[in-house]
Amino acid sequence: MKPVNVGICGLGTVGGGTFNVLTENAQDIARRAGREIVITQVGARRDNPACDTSNTTVSRDIFDVARNPDIDIVVELIGGYDVAKELVMLAIENGKHVVTANKALIAVHGDEIFAAAEARGVSVMYEAAVAGGIPIIKALREGLAANQVNWLAGIINGTGNFILTEMRDKGRDFDDVLKEAQELGYAEADPTFDVEGIDAAHKLTILASIAYGIPLQFERCFTEGISKITRDDVEFAEELGYRIKHLGVSRKSANGIDLRVHPTLIPESRPIAKVDGVLNAVTVNGNAVGDTLYVGAGAGAGPTASAVVADIVDLARCIDVDASARVNHLAFNQVDDVEVLSMDDVETAYYLRIPVQDKTGVLASIASILSERGINIEAIIQKEPKEGETLAQIILLTHKIVERTMNDAIKAIEALESTVGEVTRIRAEHMD
Ligand code: HSE
Repeated sequence: MKPVNVGICGLGTVGGGTFNVLTENAQDIARRAGREIVITQVGARRDNPACDTSNTTVSRDIFDVARNPDIDIVVELIGGYDVAKELVMLAIENGKHVVTANKALIAVHGDEIFAAAEARGVSVMYEAAVAGGIPIIKALREGLAANQVNWLAGIINGTGNFILTEMRDKGRDFDDVLKEAQELGYAEADPTFDVEGIDAAHKLTILASIAYGIPLQFERCFTEGISKITRDDVEFAEELGYRIKHLGVSRKSANGIDLRVHPTLIPESRPIAKVDGVLNAVTVNGNAVGDTLYVGAGAGAGPTASAVVADIVDLARCIDVDASARVNHLAFNQVDDVEVLSMDDVETAYYLRIPVQDKTGVLASIASILSERGINIEAIIQKEPKEGETLAQIILLTHKIVERTMNDAIKAIEALESTVGEVTRIRAEHMD
């Protein structure tokens, strides 16, 4: 059978990893795909010393790859929005299939890109865009196709998980761990994307679309980062039997779909609570299958290349079949315009840490604010002032309540004379 010709654009961490996996595993890959997969061209502004490109045409202009009539599949690994979009659109226009690891591109421009690809009869594959080496896109689009998905939740940013784990286990500083994540090639070019949850929001947007068959709605995703998590919160959460993870959560209810990324308390008995370091994990609950859990490396050259190359193999297997026989880009042939809920309408449980003056009646006034609003307390801890300090801390865990009501309760608690400073609120999920 005729070989499939691949052009790789971008030879950084992921591009270099893809080049090396395709080269080193060429024999097995050809046996799996049923044909040879050849790297015909590389488009990269600079060489990667980890890759031996001496037998490959290298072009400094990535657009040469999208224009090359010999190329069947353009692999976009340059990242970012604008140039990447231009490259992908040109490749599609020229009738090439596309494989990308670019979550930002898919989450923001995916609907437009998929429409262009469908009009041209080509496919855009994006397994590497979510959770690095974990084949979660394949699992959701194909393996779980029998199910109505009720909810999914995931640790989908390796850098953030690495930072939280190192801070908790080794008491290391936030900045120091972030620097190490950058050196290891985990972090985004702009690391605020990792710590402020934007990267996870891109990935969650994609997961929710293929779980429920809804358009990509990145702009509706609620995002809160991990930079305000303190060691106290980590310790108090543990005392209550919980771990804090930076979670992307999406749930389908009668009111709509929620789409949110925020630090989250998870009962430590849940398997996902024990997923540490740069590992990612996604739990999906389907109405037929129940709970499923997928764990693996979420970032780095090898794991991400594993997902990129799997997409290339998938395309190579069905490159000669009619486009209508391929799995739809968003897993559903009909996309439903279901509303993503505003955060005010989302229901979750809460952890509250309230800095208070140490005097009589403080706990009673907080409890009455909560009970007046129908907020049920699940657990409570009071911490005496630390040596040399005057403030006590009240830590509460509540049952589920709608966010709007909790906002109102927090406002009332902060207005109490006995409350000193802001209330820390961390959402909690029991994953049931
Ligand atoms: N910066 C991302 C992470 C890379 O840390 O998970 C993989 O998307």
